[in-house]
Amino acid sequence: MITDSFTAGPAGTILVTGASGLIGRALVDRLRARGQTVRRLVRSATGHAGDFLWDPARGVLDPAAMAGATAVVHLAGEPVAHRWTPARKAAIRDSRVQSTALLARAIAALDGPRPVFLSGSAVGFYGDRGDELLDETSAPGRGFLPTVCQAWEEAAQPAVAAGARVAFLRTGVVLHPEGGALEKLLTPFRLGAGGPIGTGRQWLSWISLEDEVRGIEQALWTDAIRGPVNLVAPTPVTNAEFATTLGRVLARPALIPVPAFALQLLYGEMAEETILAGQRVMPRVLLAQGFAFAHPTLEQALRSMLGR
Ligand SMILES: NC(=O)c1ccc[n+]([C@@H]2O[C@H](COP(=O)([O-])OP(=O)(O)OC[C@H]3O[C@@H](n4cnc5c(N)ncnc54)[C@H](OP(=O)(O)O)[C@@H]3O)[C@@H](O)[C@H]2O)c1
Repeated sequence: MITDSFTAGPAGTILVTGASGLIGRALVDRLRARGQTVRRLVRSATGHAGDFLWDPARGVLDPAAMAGATAVVHLAGEPVAHRWTPARKAAIRDSRVQSTALLARAIAALDGPRPVFLSGSAVGFYGDRGDELLDETSAPGRGFLPTVCQAWEEAAQPAVAAGARVAFLRTGVVLHPEGGALEKLLTPFRLGAGGPIGTGRQWLSWISLEDEVRGIEQALWTDAIRGPVNLVAPTPVTNAEFATTLGRVLARPALIPVPAFALQLLYGEMAEETILAGQRVMPRVLLAQGFAFAHPTLEQALRSMLGR
């Protein structure tokens, strides 16, 4: 549902990958509600009008998908929140890098005006950075996710070189009760079994799903946005603050800590680079454009999305 008078942008044809995912579904619904023409790039035939096929692993893309497109929003990628086996790590990396390179080459090969290319990325780019305040000018961190994010952004170079406007959506932890991290946390917290994870001092750069989609729209319609754009609320919190706030909103105690070793045992490297690590990221580019967050603080965001 559209709850604000945010600009709808000029009418165009917007191609979306990963359109069946948490962010993609919300983006497609919102763009269509605004009267935009949306094409979904899908990996298996759906029979729906407006769906076009691709197979990024095999370098196959229906050329009709790109014809006349004014923008491409690339959100596809193998899910990250599972134990990282060598095969899973390869899939996380390859699904992003190969698909981005395929789209970038297709954009570069077009005659005439090139579509805007908003290519996925993540605040994982910055790695585990303690209390350091980070923005789009900060250097990448170290580890698997920073390496993946750099290769993922780098793969868009053919589109940049061809003169397209390209932006990288460095997304934080997207909050929505029906998907992603918050959905997984709701049951233990509702049972009063929630609490801080590890030391609780690691920073969590979060954004509500509504602001994620509004931020993508802002990047779509703002010519000045190119290069990295952090999609995070302006108020990152520590993991302990997150637990306390979610407990307060649900009116449940949130005092049961989750020890780091248990997560390391269950999820290994994935836990060490995600839930046990953190980065304190500011949305400098969005704020410079005067972007007004619908949910600037965590408590307000959680109350709004949980109806409490
Ligand atoms: N949600 C977050 O908190 C968050 C945070 C930071 C970054 N991001 C990034 O933002 C993007 C979208 O996030 P999301 O939460 O909407 O993701 P999601 O719910 O996991 O959906 C991703 C979509 O990517 C496609 N996909 C899955 N595996 C794939 C593979 N092996 N190869 C190619 N495509 C594949 C699927 O779409 P089809 O089946 O339709 O192709 C899927 O619906 C992802 O790249 C993610 O890494 C998300």
